[in-house]
Amino acid sequence: MKIKKFFNVILLFQIIFLFQQNIFAAGEVLDKVMPIMLAITILVIALTMWLSVVYSEKEDFDGKAFLEPFKKFTNMITKSTPIENEKDILLDHDYDGIKELDSKIPPWFSFLLYGTIVFAVIYMIRFHVIGSGNVQEEEYLEEIRQAQVERQILIKTGAFLNEETVTVTSDAGALSNGKDIFIKNCAACHANDGGGLVGPNLTDEYWINGGGIKNVFKVIKYGVPAKGMISWQTQLSPTQMQEVGSYILSLQGTQPANPKPIEGEKWVEPVEEETKS
Ligand code: HEC
Repeated sequence: MKIKKFFNVILLFQIIFLFQQNIFAAGEVLDKVMPIMLAITILVIALTMWLSVVYSEKEDFDGKAFLEPFKKFTNMITKSTPIENEKDILLDHDYDGIKELDSKIPPWFSFLLYGTIVFAVIYMIRFHVIGSGNVQEEEYLEEIRQAQVERQILIKTGAFLNEETVTVTSDAGALSNGKDIFIKNCAACHANDGGGLVGPNLTDEYWINGGGIKNVFKVIKYGVPAKGMISWQTQLSPTQMQEVGSYILSLQGTQPANPKPIEGEKWVEPVEEETKS
């Protein structure tokens, strides 16, 4: 009878536990969680009061009857000998005053041992015989796949674009973006057609800071503050700098209305060194 009540209590606790699991699994917002939490709290308080009434009726004021099931349970998993019976299991040898008890192996310990054996067998069959549980390799491949997706996103946002890695883009959309950026930000000093005003002519082969997309990108990014060309890295994204840089290079050889006289050195694109392995 007592045991039955004990199991009822356990069941109740389990229900409460399950409730909580669901709340967190659903990831609900606080507003929705609060009433449920409140309900659980009231339930727990009610349960405590009910328990105290039940056990006070039994005049179990030191909680002996209440704690009985727990004691039984600990006894069941430890099978320990009560201290008053220890003389029954005392071995009769004595090593300089050190005595030994012939205690039983606690069931929880055996359970752990047999549990690991069972686990090992299942593990071996699953991972090494059938080979269906190739979790590590799959996890690895999944991580690689994710990293590639992230890389693609980063490439799109231009995070990898810098003066070392930048390349000319010939994409029509990108060049048209580049033109818009140029008209809006750069034309005031370089003229709408790139012929140059305060800033130099960008349509000829002569460059003060070196030609080619890498140098152009660098000048746009860091500017030449001493000469009046400002740094754009805080205002333009790497992709935008690539777009406007590519747009400028697409102006090479065009005939601006009022070209500024030649400044700088004639730029010859260096031959790319092929890396052979
Ligand atoms: C306030 C005027 C001003 C604005 C705005 C300006 N530039 Fe310049 N730019 C200059 C000056 C001045 C130079 C010459 C720097 C030097 O002598 O090294 C220059 C140089 C350059 C160069 C290098 C040219 C060479 O011959 O080495 C590039 C490329 C360039 N600007 C691109 C841009 C782009 C792209 C923008 C817009 C995002 C822009 N500039 C906006 C004034 C400006």
